[in-house]
This record gives sequence, structure tokens and C-alpha cells, in this order.
Amino acid sequence: MVSKLKHGKGERSFTHYFVNKHLYSPKNYGAKMFVLSILLVIHILSAVIWLGFFPIEIIMRRKITKLTTKNDTQSETVILRSLISDYLQLNGLTGKIGLIGILLTGVLLTSFSPYYSFFDFTANHWLVTKQMVMIIILIIVGTVYMSSARKLRSSLSMNEKFITEEDVYLVKKFGWVSFAVHILVLINFLLAITHRFLSHS
Ligand code: HEM
Repeated sequence: MVSKLKHGKGERSFTHYFVNKHLYSPKNYGAKMFVLSILLVIHILSAVIWLGFFPIEIIMRRKITKLTTKNDTQSETVILRSLISDYLQLNGLTGKIGLIGILLTGVLLTSFSPYYSFFDFTANHWLVTKQMVMIIILIIVGTVYMSSARKLRSSLSMNEKFITEEDVYLVKKFGWVSFAVHILVLINFLLAITHRFLSHS
């Protein structure tokens, strides 16, 4: 089936046509709205988990920077190493939950909702911007974020006793990439919660 069909107001995709015809029949309307609400709750929770780590990340990075300038004793080095590995682990975990949760539910919400569509530049500008920002996030995560995390992990495992200059450089690099991703997630969060007050579309 060709992906564009005419039905109701203007042209919409086949998915929209199918979803509106079958999912929004009065018979199942209540159940469908319930599923959409669950998806929205998971979507928001994923965003909260992803963003919840942002302030924790700032505090952890400050501690790491402080310790890197004075990791003279063996015990300070041990603390620094475990702090860096906790930072990496928590960052990866909250990032994975946030990214997968938001992406899956965002795509389902957009496909199943009668009001929204993908990359529709004529309406819902907040949603198009969110989708484009999400593409930028995916590119950053798929390229720099994952490779810096991998390099940092392997650099740490190469030397068990010291924190090298290379480790310090990689922590800083990873920290800035993660900071940039969190800022983009924050922009999307703000776009999502303010859209009903700022636009009429
Ligand atoms: C980092 C990325 C994202 C964040 C932080 C985010 C956050 C949110 C939040 C907090 C809401 C609830 C807004 C409200 O109801 O007041 C929301 C709603 C929604 N989001 Fe996202 N979102 C993100 C990405 C996406 C993507 C990529 C899509 C689509 C592919 C998407 C589709 C939607 C849809 C359709 C709604 C429902 C809006 C409504 O019915 O009012 N989101 N998002």
C-alpha cells in the first residue's frame, strides 16, 4: 500500500489512516486511551530518569575534578577510580533507560495519536523540533558518547594503580559530551511541557 492516502482533513500516512479507522472506533476508544496514557507515563518517567542524573552528574564531575588535582596517596587514587567507574556506570544506565524508553514510547505515541505525526513541519512545531533534537542526540550517542565511554573504560582497566593523564583527559571529554546530551534532553523536556502554553497548534 502506498504510504499516502486521502482521508478526512488533508493527506495523512497509511498508519494514520489505519490507526484512526481501527483504533479510534467508538467500541475500543476507552481501552485505546488507556494504552496511550500508559505510554505517556512511561515516556515522562524515562525523561525524568534521564534528566534526574543531570544534577548528580554535575556533583560527581566536580568531585572527580577535585580529586584528580590531588590524588597523591594510594587511597585517594582508589576513591577516584571507583568514583569514575560509578559515574560511567550510572551515566550509561540512566542514559540507556531514558533513550530507549523515550524513543519507543515517543514513536508509539506519535503513530497511535490522531493529533501527531512524524516530521510534520506544518503543525506541532514543538514536536518536530523534539524529533529533530532526538535525531541529534542519537547521532551524538552513536558516535562520540559511546566511543568516549569505551575508551575511558579500557584506559582505566589498563592501569589498576594510577590515574594517568590520558584517563583525566578522557573523563573530561566524556563529561562534556554527556553534558551536551543532557542539555539537549532538557531542551526537549522544556519544549514538551511548555508546548500547550506557548503554541496554538
Ligand atoms: C529527549 C527526548 C524527549 C523528551 C525529554 C520528551 C519529553 C516529553 C514529555 C515530558 C512529555 C509530556 C508533555 C505533556 O504532556 O505535558 C512528552 C510528550 C510527548 N512526546 Fe516526548 N520527549 C522526547 C522525545 C520525543 C520524541 C523523539 C517523540 C516522537 C518520536 C516524542 C513524542 C511525544 C508525544 C507524541 C507526546 C504527547 C504530547 C501530548 O499529548 O501532549 N517525544 N514528551
